[in-house]
Formats: sequence, C-alpha cells, structure tokens
Amino acid sequence: MSFTAAWLEMREPYDRRARNPAVIDALVAALSDRPSVTIADLACGTGSTFRALRPRIKARQIWRLVDNDLSLLARAPQSSPPDVIAATIPIDLSRDLEAALDGPVDLVTTSALLDLVSDEWLQRLVVEIATRRLPLYAALSYDGRVEMTPADVADQKVIAAFNAHQRTDKGFGRALGPGAAQTAVERFERVGYTLVQGASDWVFAPQDREIQLEVLSGWAAAARDLGEVPLGDVVGWLTRRRDLVAAGRSSIRVGHVDFFAQPTGTR
Ligand SMILES: C[S@@+](CC[C@H](N)C(=O)[O-])C[C@H]1O[C@@H](n2cnc3c(N)ncnc32)[C@H](O)[C@@H]1O
Repeated sequence: MSFTAAWLEMREPYDRRARNPAVIDALVAALSDRPSVTIADLACGTGSTFRALRPRIKARQIWRLVDNDLSLLARAPQSSPPDVIAATIPIDLSRDLEAALDGPVDLVTTSALLDLVSDEWLQRLVVEIATRRLPLYAALSYDGRVEMTPADVADQKVIAAFNAHQRTDKGFGRALGPGAAQTAVERFERVGYTLVQGASDWVFAPQDREIQLEVLSGWAAAARDLGEVPLGDVVGWLTRRRDLVAAGRSSIRVGHVDFFAQPTGTR
C-alpha cells in the first residue's frame, strides 16, 4: 500500500492538532533526565512524528527514520547538528522489523501505522520492543469511529464497508484495522507495560473542505472496492456528501487513539 507525499502533507496539520497532549506529556516525562535519546520512528513517511516531537524533547536527539518508500524518505527531515541528528533508513518493516530496532535505541515511535498491520506483525512488534524493554509512542491509530454532521441515510453502511476494508491486507497480512490500538494496548499490558492512552480524533470543520473531500473519496473508494454496498448507493452518498462540503455545511470527526507504553518501573 502506498501513501503520497501530498496526502501526508495534507493530513499533517490535522494530525498535529489531534495528537493527544497527555500522551506526549507522558513521553516527555519519561525522557526528562536523559542528555541524549535515540529514537526509531517506524513508518516515518516524511517525518510527521519527528516534527511533532522534536520541539518537545529537550535531550539531544538522534532520529532513525524508517520507511520502505524512498520517495517519502527523500522528503524526510535533515540533521540540524549538534542537537538533532536524523538518518533515513529504508527498510521493509513487514520483513525486517528487527533490523529497524537493532543497535542503541531508547524510544520507538510510530504514527498512523498500527491500523495497517496484522495481528501476527503486531505481536512481533510487542515482542521485539518488550524484549529490549523499550518505550513506544504510537499515535493516530484509526479506531473505527466516524461522526458526520449532518447525518446521511447511507453514512452507516458506507463507514461499515470502509471499516471492513481497513481489515484487508495492507502489506502486513490481514490488517487489524480499527481494532489495532486496543489490541496493542492489551498486549503491552500483558507483558507488564504501563500505558497512557487517549483520543486523538481528527476534527474537520466546515471550512476544511479539501481534507473532507479527500477522506470522503477514500471511504467511497474503499466501499466500492469491497463491493458489499450497491455502487449506486455509494455514488449517491458521495454526491450528497460532496454537496454538503461545497455548501460549507459539513463537519466530520474521525476517531483515532494515541498511546505511550513503557516498561513498568521505568519513568
Ligand atoms: C499513513 S502513512 C503514515 C506516515 C507517517 N508516520 C505520518 O504519520 O505521516 C503510513 C506509512 O507506512 C509506510 N509503510 C507502509 N508499509 C510499510 C512497510 N512494509 N515498511 C515500511 N514502511 C511502510 C508508508 O510508506 C507510509 O509512510
């Protein structure tokens, strides 16, 4: 599955606003007494998590920016020595997760990845992180909640189809989709981690037309691909929704979850 730089750029301001502040505070507190921290950002895209966390972490930072998309990595942040060193690392995480975590790492971060991965891959991630006793900041996992105002008669069936599509293979095997964050939280608790979690919903106001149109098109495409909702219903729904956006009458909330997991007994 590929993500364009244009899409990541469009969503980044909404992601930035949505990131749960209590979860970031917990991460910042956990790192507060370190002079230097090495961070492995898994599926970094163009570096959204780097840009969100860099100003919050006071320690000297060494970022390992990992992704398998070379065109996204080419847009990732550069080092600004002496306080920040950033290196891009092209790795297919579905195959070589372990390589991404090898060497000295103090913190693992990721955003908008967990809902794409399979149960098996998530278990691998938990094992690799817990074995190394590393903390994990996982932001912006889609959790299946969508509220659209005003409501449309076909909202529920289109979103149900989209959520089912989110559970299809995104390159890591059958994806956990909307259940991913909850499953990850339970797995980390089971291996003795302490969790801080909270909502990080996208909130699109009527003037946020461009991103509303983009997500509505994406949901319609997913529903169409799945083929369970009649095509005419999907097209009618998308047309009505687009008309509301154009008229400045559409608001949308999209549910996401952030969490920070750290081995119990560390701060
Ligand atoms: C939704 S984007 C999120 C990007 C970034 N974390 C952000 O929040 O903007 C998902 C990212 O996962 C990366 N990705 C997908 N499959 C991957 C794989 N098998 N190995 C490494 N990265 C992968 C994509 O290239 C993309 O950058």
